[in-house]
Amino acid sequence: SEAPQNLPKCQAEMRFDVLAKAGLARRGQLFLPHSVVETPVFMPVGTQGTMKGILPEQLIDMDCRILLCNTYHLGHRPGHKKVQKAGGLHKMMNWPRSILTDSGGFQMVSLSKLMTIDETGVNFESPHTGEMMELPPEKSIEIQQALGADIMMQLDHVIHVLTTGDVVQEAMHRSIRWLDRCNIAHTRDDQALFPILQGGLNLELRAECAAEMAKRARVGIAIGGLSGGEEKSQFWRVVAACCAALPPHLPRYVMGVGFAVDLVICSLLGADMFDCVFPTRTARFGTALVRKGGQLSLNQKRFEDDFRPIDEKCECDTCKNYTRAFIHSVINKETIGCHLITVHNIKHQLDLMADVRKSIELDQVEIFLNNFLSDVYGPID
Ligand code: GUN
Ligand code: ZN
Repeated sequence: SEAPQNLPKCQAEMRFDVLAKAGLARRGQLFLPHSVVETPVFMPVGTQGTMKGILPEQLIDMDCRILLCNTYHLGHRPGHKKVQKAGGLHKMMNWPRSILTDSGGFQMVSLSKLMTIDETGVNFESPHTGEMMELPPEKSIEIQQALGADIMMQLDHVIHVLTTGDVVQEAMHRSIRWLDRCNIAHTRDDQALFPILQGGLNLELRAECAAEMAKRARVGIAIGGLSGGEEKSQFWRVVAACCAALPPHLPRYVMGVGFAVDLVICSLLGADMFDCVFPTRTARFGTALVRKGGQLSLNQKRFEDDFRPIDEKCECDTCKNYTRAFIHSVINKETIGCHLITVHNIKHQLDLMADVRKSIELDQVEIFLNNFLSDVYGPID
């Protein structure tokens, strides 16, 4: 089918430059209205207009350039009209750099029991009033335009990744039709709109979807419908196939990916952007991310007298100033325990991506991969 041509002009000024390549991996820069994003990038996730357990100032100190916010939550509380009155999401959050908003469909699939989808849009039960509400693609764009993020996501038809049969194909084709409706509803020229590839684990469907959506994409494109309990090998194979089917000039955003090994593998397969609640959510459960062994559960009694920082090599404010023993002693008692681990975990994730970028620039991804794997899976001293 033909891609419609009525697309806002200024999206063209947002651009993606590939600075270096190593194998399939790309080191790039994405120019957005509120920042230049160095890729491959990990985007921390906020809900309801705040980052949990960390302040914007602290994220700026870490040189974080872009955050993801969920439209689903913001549409209800405080409500997109209120956010618009407050001057938009950037102002409301006191975050001057880039923001990406998700369209809402995925959150409904994962949060709403009574959710149904038809050609009109997503129907879901309001978490606050209990009444049934409709989210058509046009409404998702209206909400996201009121929020004013640098990047908006199309409303897509998300199905569980292990679904088989005709629904996989139908949801993929519907996502293409919804993309066209989103494009028509999209009028603000200072926001980019990313399509989202669907097609489950079927590589032919993914390639077909990539070809159709690439025609309609201007600034970047996302790979959706993954990270839902499929085998790693299948997940990586779909990412590889999508990256291979997409044009090189668009950044490729793999949605919902945040485990270190997946960030590394997907970057090396040619993906450029990632987001996940994992580092912040796991922090709230007392788990710190570290290079050696991957994770430390600071709830454990063995940290009672451990006066080392979370990670000796980390330069975050937590590791500079606090010990594992201190954090262990305040976990579950004081919210400061969560804050300290959240600060560390986000810095850890941003540092990992900085290392990935450096290794691509220096054409040393093999050395990087060796070191990374022996740190995570090798013996711990
Ligand atoms: N977050 C993680 N996966 C997805 C997806 O497939 N679609 C959307 N809209 N958000 C996601
Ligand atoms: Zn740290």
